[in-house]
Amino acid sequence: MDTPIIEARSVSAVYGGGGGPVLRDVTFAVPPGERVALVGANGAGKTSLLLAMVGILPITSGSLHIGSIELNAGPQDKRKLKTLREQVSLVFQDPDDQLFMPSIYEDLAFGPRNMGLGEDAVHHRVDEVLTRLGIGFLKDRSPLRLSGGEKRMAAIAASLTMNPQVMLFDEPTAFLDPKAQRNLMGVLQSLPHTQLIATHDLAFAAVLCPRVILLQQGAVFAQGPASELLRNGELMEQCGLEAI
Ligand SMILES: Nc1ncnc2c1ncn2[C@@H]1O[C@H](COP(=O)(O)OP(=O)(O)OP(=O)(O)O)[C@@H](O)[C@H]1O
Ligand SMILES: [Mg+2]
Repeated sequence: MDTPIIEARSVSAVYGGGGGPVLRDVTFAVPPGERVALVGANGAGKTSLLLAMVGILPITSGSLHIGSIELNAGPQDKRKLKTLREQVSLVFQDPDDQLFMPSIYEDLAFGPRNMGLGEDAVHHRVDEVLTRLGIGFLKDRSPLRLSGGEKRMAAIAASLTMNPQVMLFDEPTAFLDPKAQRNLMGVLQSLPHTQLIATHDLAFAAVLCPRVILLQQGAVFAQGPASELLRNGELMEQCGLEAI
């Protein structure tokens, strides 16, 4: 395997407030350019793992290497987190967590502006992403006045304008109609970025991702080829899922 661009070694994490660990000794590696599906029942820890990977949920033990950054337990310095967020983007499970500017254009321009790009370059990048996703018509709209599916596409667009090395997606097909799902599938397939995709849509995962990581109660229950894992009825049932 190529040198991994993502490597989690025995990562554990807890939320504040006295609950038990939400991630338990999670270990996996992803080589550059690979698309990997992260699957598991409700509450299995998919979102928590993605939040840990962008430094939002602090890890309590182990280490997480992503791009050029290594996250460990304990306080992280701000510069490290800034670099991490330039290299890794997360499309949140709830698009409302991601869209906060007065217009979609401003939301898409926010990341590249923050990275110091000039206005011409920002404009070019935003236009290119809007065209690629077929959502140019949302450009001047307020995120407060979009449908669920439109918000989802806008949130994905906002991650793409960052042009990170690694893209993390939390339930990217939620709220999308069948045509928008197919469109998204084509877009994700065309991207050269390393992608980790948390999804309940196992048919979508099977088409897009050669490899699957199966989480159960915050731990990796199994990982391997999607064609084997997703079709293994017994295994999937043990994790509260249904084989495809
Ligand atoms: N902010 C929080 N504080 C405390 N516990 C939390 C918090 N967010 C999630 N949890 C708990 O952590 C566990 C994992 O949740 P997580 O959201 O990572 O699951 P998930 O696999 O993404 O589920 P879903 O498929 O429903 O999105 C659950 O038991 C959940 O109740
Ligand atoms: Mg989730």
